[in-house]
Amino acid sequence: MNFQDIIRKKRDGRSLSEDEIKYLVKGISDGSLPDYQVSAWAMAVYFQGMDDRETRDLAMAMAYSGDVVDLSFIPGVKVDKHSTGGVGDKTTLVVIPLVAAAGIPVVKMSGRGLGHTGGTVDKYASIPGFQVERGFAEFIRQVQQVGAAVISQSGNLVPADKKLYAIRDVTATVESIPLIASSIMSKKIASGADSILLDVKVGSGAFMKEQQEAEKLARAMVEIGKRAGRQAIAVLSAMEQPLGRMVGNSLEVKEAVETLQGRGPDDLLELSMVLASYMLILGRKYSSLDEARCCIRNILDSGQGLAKFQELIEAQGGRLNYNQKSYGLAEASIKREVITQEGGYISGLNAYMIGHTAMMLGAGRERLEDRIDYSVGIEILKKCGDFVCPGDVLAVLHLNCENKIEAACRQIALAYEINPEQSEKKPLILEVIS
Ligand code: URA
Repeated sequence: MNFQDIIRKKRDGRSLSEDEIKYLVKGISDGSLPDYQVSAWAMAVYFQGMDDRETRDLAMAMAYSGDVVDLSFIPGVKVDKHSTGGVGDKTTLVVIPLVAAAGIPVVKMSGRGLGHTGGTVDKYASIPGFQVERGFAEFIRQVQQVGAAVISQSGNLVPADKKLYAIRDVTATVESIPLIASSIMSKKIASGADSILLDVKVGSGAFMKEQQEAEKLARAMVEIGKRAGRQAIAVLSAMEQPLGRMVGNSLEVKEAVETLQGRGPDDLLELSMVLASYMLILGRKYSSLDEARCCIRNILDSGQGLAKFQELIEAQGGRLNYNQKSYGLAEASIKREVITQEGGYISGLNAYMIGHTAMMLGAGRERLEDRIDYSVGIEILKKCGDFVCPGDVLAVLHLNCENKIEAACRQIALAYEINPEQSEKKPLILEVIS
């Protein structure tokens, strides 16, 4: 087989055979294909797309390009959750303990954040002492004892995706539905869960800006799961404005804890409740969404969710001190208010710009090897639908570097749209695909 012919075939809009896809994935994993040819192929896919069968073949070939975890000896239906990435999205921190407290084992392999979106592993890693790099045996023991465990995607898990994602990241080929669907689902299949809850974000802060595109991505992922013998449900949720009020790792952990204490923002609480309820359905504890929601509500109200969160944190070496205002999480040295000059209703708050500003402050990384500062971020005081007067505080920057203040304040102010008329409230949950 000749790789040049495979690139040409895709460039000309023809479907690749299963064997051609396996050949390609093997070449990416063992390094026999040079990056420039992989890049050319990825760009051909970006423009020509892949049909459903090709996308499935790519996902399966990538899933089996390295180790595949076998969790079959842990009793029960093991459930995983994945978000396609957003700004202020700390739902995993809230949802995992709620679902685990309901008796459904949760296995969570998470990635690090890249670009304007935050990564769950970074949020957990901001908790003093918390270990995200753990051996597989320890991970399994913890799922058995605590009912949930979180580790970073490491070792020899889906090496083909690791290389392909790094190439896509620097060749402007990330935003391709077949490539995103196969990248996400290959990791979910390899990490061994029986069922997968997918939170597909739609809006300015997401990869998918339009609902129609997000639907296509969701259907492709659910279909890949089905073909691999895994049940998957996709919830499409709005990512026009950041979720909750905190953006930045330590700040988001604090907000997740407050949500588990019943003091969280409405949108974060609602999305967490919906996702956790679907996870109970995937875990076959309930068949009705109302019953599942009622169970999650009880777990939250009784404090069992917070207790499970604490158990999970301690099992992974983490320490939080609830007697301190910041719970012992890292705090930034400078706090700066962003003030509005205009008055009116907030009609838009661009999640991408907020996420990008947080990254600029050091909360995220432009390259995977960048170090991040857990303490920095943005506290959002005003969101869509709120009324503001000139001089009101829109947001508070938490940062450690004086010379970033001006640019960050400017970007945050630009992220807000203010209008004299109140606009219609947009739904948070857009659609569910199963
Ligand atoms: N997340 C992934 O894991 N892969 C993608 O391609 C995009 C988002």
